[in-house]
Amino acid sequence: MNYIGSKHRLSSFIQDTIHSVCGQDLSDLVFCDLFAGTGTVGRVFKSQVKAIIANDLEFYSYVLNRNYIGNYKSFEYNDLIENLHSLPLQKGFIAAQYGEGGVGNRLYFSKHNAQKIDSIRTEVERWYRNKAISTDVYYFLLASLLESADKIANTASVYGSYLKTIKPRAAKSMVITPATFEITNTAHQVFQEDGNELITKISGDILYIDPPYNVRQYGANYHILNTIAKYNIFAPRGKTGLPIYNKSAYCSKKTVVSSFEQLIKNAQFKYIFVSYSNEGLMSPSVIKKVMKQYGRYDVKTTSYKRFRADKTASRHHKASSTIEYLHILEKQ
Ligand SMILES: C[S@@+](CC[C@H](N)C(=O)[O-])C[C@H]1O[C@@H](n2cnc3c(N)ncnc32)[C@H](O)[C@@H]1O
Repeated sequence: MNYIGSKHRLSSFIQDTIHSVCGQDLSDLVFCDLFAGTGTVGRVFKSQVKAIIANDLEFYSYVLNRNYIGNYKSFEYNDLIENLHSLPLQKGFIAAQYGEGGVGNRLYFSKHNAQKIDSIRTEVERWYRNKAISTDVYYFLLASLLESADKIANTASVYGSYLKTIKPRAAKSMVITPATFEITNTAHQVFQEDGNELITKISGDILYIDPPYNVRQYGANYHILNTIAKYNIFAPRGKTGLPIYNKSAYCSKKTVVSSFEQLIKNAQFKYIFVSYSNEGLMSPSVIKKVMKQYGRYDVKTTSYKRFRADKTASRHHKASSTIEYLHILEKQ
C-alpha cells in the first residue's frame, strides 16, 4: 500500500542499523512496532524475533497488523476468496456514499467496485457472525479487502480527496488478492491504542517508534479504509464524506514534544529506535535532547526520495529528497 511515511523502501537501512546495535541474533528478543501503520517494519522482524508487539491508533492499521503480524499459523483460503469473487453486486453504504452515481456523489470508487466492496464486506461479516470463519481468517479477509480496494481507489494517493473522473486503474474490476502473511513458531500481539498509553502497560527489548512527523492526520487521510474496515453507518461530513476521526498528539506542534518525551521516559525497553524526517515538527536536535536524558544516544541518517503526495505544487518543498533519521537510544 502507498502509505504516508511507509518504511518499505527504508527497511534495509532500519534492519541493518538495528542489527549493528542489537546483534545479528534477535531470536530471544521482544520487538515492538508502536506506530505500525501498514506493518512493514514488524513484518521484516517477525521471523527474526521471539515476539512482535504491533500497535497503531487507527482501525484499518489494526486490521492489517492483526493479519500480517497477528496471524502466524497457516489456513486454507482459496475457496473463500473464490466465493467472494462470485458474489452478486450489492448497493450498500460504500456505494451510496463513496461510489460513482451514489447519493453522496463522491467519486472514490467506480459504481461497480463500490458495490463489489459492499457485497464482499457484508458477506465476510456474515460468515464471521455465523462462526463460519475464525477470527484469524476474518482479519485475513478484511486485510485482503483493504489492500485490494486501495489498488482501485480513484485517488491521486491518499483519501483526502478523490479525482474528478474515474482514472483507468480505478475503472478495472477489483480483484481480491490474498494478504499473505509469514508463518512463525511463536505468537505475536496486536493492539489499537494510543502509543503513549500502551507504553505504560508493556515491556520488551527493542522499541521501534515511527510517529507521524507532520500535521497530516492519518485518520483523515485514510478515512475510507477505516470506513470499509469498521463498516458502521454514520453521517458522512462534507465533500469527502469524512467521519469523526482520531487526532494524534504527534501531528500538532503544541503537543508533539511533550508526548514524545513522555513516551521515551515511560518506555521499558533496552533499545529504542526512532524514525523521523528532517522536515518534521520536531527538529533532530530536539529529538536528541529528549533522548539523551535517558541513556546512550546515537544517530544514523540516509537520504530518501519524497512521498508522492508531497510533491504537488501546493506543497512548496524545494528538495526532491529528504533526510531520514534513525535516532538510537540504549536506555540506562
Ligand atoms: C509514519 S506512520 C508509520 C508507518 C509505518 N512504519 C509503515 O511503514 O507503514 C505513523 C503511524 O502512526 C499512527 N499514529 C499516529 N498517532 C498515534 C498514536 N498516538 N499512537 C499510535 N499510533 C499513532 C498513524 O496512524 C500512522 O499509521
